[in-house]
Amino acid sequence: MQIAKTIEDIKMIISEAGSFGKKIGFVPTMGALHAGHISLIKKAKQQTEFVVVSIFVNPTQFGPNEDIDKYPRPFEADLEICKHNGADAVFAPSAQEMYPQKNLTWINVEKLSESLCGKTRPNHFRGVATVCAKLFNIVQPDVAYFGQKDAQQVIVIKRMIADLNLPLRIVVCPTVRESDGLAMSSRNKYLNAEQRKDAPLLYAALQEAEIFIKAGERKSDFLKEQIKKILNISSQIAIDYISIVNADTLDEIDEVKGKVLIALAVKLGPARLIDNILLDVK
Ligand code: PAF
Repeated sequence: MQIAKTIEDIKMIISEAGSFGKKIGFVPTMGALHAGHISLIKKAKQQTEFVVVSIFVNPTQFGPNEDIDKYPRPFEADLEICKHNGADAVFAPSAQEMYPQKNLTWINVEKLSESLCGKTRPNHFRGVATVCAKLFNIVQPDVAYFGQKDAQQVIVIKRMIADLNLPLRIVVCPTVRESDGLAMSSRNKYLNAEQRKDAPLLYAALQEAEIFIKAGERKSDFLKEQIKKILNISSQIAIDYISIVNADTLDEIDEVKGKVLIALAVKLGPARLIDNILLDVK
């Protein structure tokens, strides 16, 4: 596995692979790799011939009071995970390498960036879209791999690719969960034992909504109330939002029908956690 810290080096490594006609798969990450990331690397390995993983804690997607400084950076362990799971190259640039001067050019995917997580994290998706566009330009992948756990991120990136005619395809892989249902996240490390015990309530609440929908319930307000009741079992959980939206447009819907995304975000101690389920409701 080759490791590049500069744009020049990763471009050289990839152009060599590309010159042999290899299809490039790309897994963009912020490191602190877990089973969710591993599933993306493995999928990339199955579907493409040269897999590049980027490890970059992107400063432009963090708000002023967010966790950029304490975001975990177990770089050596991450490299081992990449190597062990078949990555061909890792791109791990510094912030200086990615943003050598004050960034003046931003990609703002309007509307889709403003709801759900965008309400409490105003510039988050602008930072995500911008860094992904930069990474796509550097790596020039045929396919990029993202996790369904970050449902809004996926929708924003897909729209950016469509609107800007970027020459790559996105593959979305299912959320990987701990055995108790908690969605894998690098931020789970922030939870203490007490908080960790309550964290599975997020998925339990989403599953409860799904059970009601399967039994014929269609009213979003009622479903949100049921989700809230379950989250409120924990005195440590502070709800940021519970949203039931059209899975393509992210518009709130009063009645569930068609492709529906039920998404939530909470604060649990020091961690902001998100989770979602995607349903096709007849
Ligand atoms: O999902 C993430 O880890 C990040 O948002 C991404 C896509 C690597 C951009 O920094």
